[in-house]
Amino acid sequence: MATSHAAATSAKVERRESAELLNVLIVDDDRAARESCKQVAEDLGFVTHLVPDALAAYETLEQQPIDVVLLDLRSPDGGGLEVLREVKQRRPQAEVVLMTDFGTVQNAVQAMRFGAYDYLTKPFDRDELRLLLERVRSHVKILGENRMLRAKLRSKDGFANIVGASPQMEKLYRIVSKVAVSTHPVLILGESGTGKELVARAIHSSGPHRDKPFLPVDCGTLVPTLIESELFGHVKGAFTGATRSKQGLLELAQGGTVFLDEIGELPTDLQSKLLRALQEKEIRPVGGTRRIPIDARILAASNRDLETACETGTFRKDLYFRLNVVNLRIPPLRERKADIPLLVGRFLERMSGADGTARGNVERTISDNALQRLMGYEWPGNVRELENCLERACALSSGPIVHLGDLPTALQNAEMFMGPPQPALNGPQIVPIAEIEKQTILSTIRVLNGDKLEAARRLGIGKTTLYRKLKEYGTQF
Ligand SMILES: Nc1ncnc2c1ncn2[C@@H]1O[C@H](COP(=O)(O)OP(=O)(O)OP(=O)(O)O)[C@@H](O)[C@H]1O
Ligand SMILES: [Mg+2]
Repeated sequence: MATSHAAATSAKVERRESAELLNVLIVDDDRAARESCKQVAEDLGFVTHLVPDALAAYETLEQQPIDVVLLDLRSPDGGGLEVLREVKQRRPQAEVVLMTDFGTVQNAVQAMRFGAYDYLTKPFDRDELRLLLERVRSHVKILGENRMLRAKLRSKDGFANIVGASPQMEKLYRIVSKVAVSTHPVLILGESGTGKELVARAIHSSGPHRDKPFLPVDCGTLVPTLIESELFGHVKGAFTGATRSKQGLLELAQGGTVFLDEIGELPTDLQSKLLRALQEKEIRPVGGTRRIPIDARILAASNRDLETACETGTFRKDLYFRLNVVNLRIPPLRERKADIPLLVGRFLERMSGADGTARGNVERTISDNALQRLMGYEWPGNVRELENCLERACALSSGPIVHLGDLPTALQNAEMFMGPPQPALNGPQIVPIAEIEKQTILSTIRVLNGDKLEAARRLGIGKTTLYRKLKEYGTQF
């Protein structure tokens, strides 16, 4: 049987040359089943490798750049779950789709918990397989792209500071890396403490003008006259106290970035002045008549819903449209709790002095139940609240381990408001299938910028089902 697999492999050898093509390994002891899967996969442009059993599958995994494995669960040599585990170990980046019959659906459900991508119940028709393969193909491509981007971005200073590997953050990295290379304005939205300034700095320091200045202006705390003179500059005697003339940040940036933090708080007359400056690419300092050309990139941030502010008339629509060429929304921490352990790790590392800062030389860790408590909390103040909470806990803890008792009282008393306990971190993470389904649906819609019909198509479900599920989740898009 190994020969037929070799023949099937070599028949497609020339197509594998292209980096665009994905390799699928079809593992089934039934020859006819293998062949019909092969046809569907090849029609979609996959390079196929056919094997009858687990041993041949392992061999192929060693030799071929397999991206997707179609695995018959009733593998003759050993439990399908064992094979899945082995496949995942040998090639963690390969996505496994299980083929199962009704009797083994239970196993398939369990297999999803061990990292299978999805399953098909036999008998399935060609369309079902086609839809699933299309879906897994876009998934694999997006993951591959992410890995590349992250590797690229990691090597740049700015991104090294952003922690997070949840699908939501992966999506954010993709957008950030795209906008970093352009000079369009970017509007960064997100609740307080989600990392808007961090992201703005990352965009600047990954862009072509990273050697130029990054100049933040806090529109939320400065009084209006000060913001105006900060941004546009003033001439001597423009107002009381203006004893000498001053250049505005928009001029000083000289090809760098001006970061307009809390832009939603900008008074309306300054909104008009800013809009004009952005349109005409020149400014007039307060009290002056001379026009000065500007060449600054504008990044703006707000924790307010600016669309509503436009409707209520407190924010100029035309300025909103100009700034919102790219809209980057940082999800609140409660929607990406998978990032909490990573963030905790980073903050503890920092507090241990392991990052080179002088914070003492104790290697700090956290107890499982304290971490579970952090995972269960809703974090209204987002990452900043988590960071403060850990700083405080480290200051209070008597040894290197942060215990439950070191956490702020609000968190210690939060138990009654929290959901079921989270699984221990060092055991396998058990996530209910319904949750996986929900996350898949929501992240697909997000990736497709809210296009629900396209999401339903790609997910291989009807649009009515999708709408019903969204209603169940109570999520607005
Ligand atoms: N993904 C992240 N990884 C590591 N640190 C983060 C992350 N997000 C936020 N932080 C840290 O949390 C703190 C708050 O971040 P930042 O000031 O960028 O938030 P913000 O959205 O601008 O908040 P605000 O609306 O209150 O101004 C900072 O110390 C930042 O370093
Ligand atoms: Mg901020």
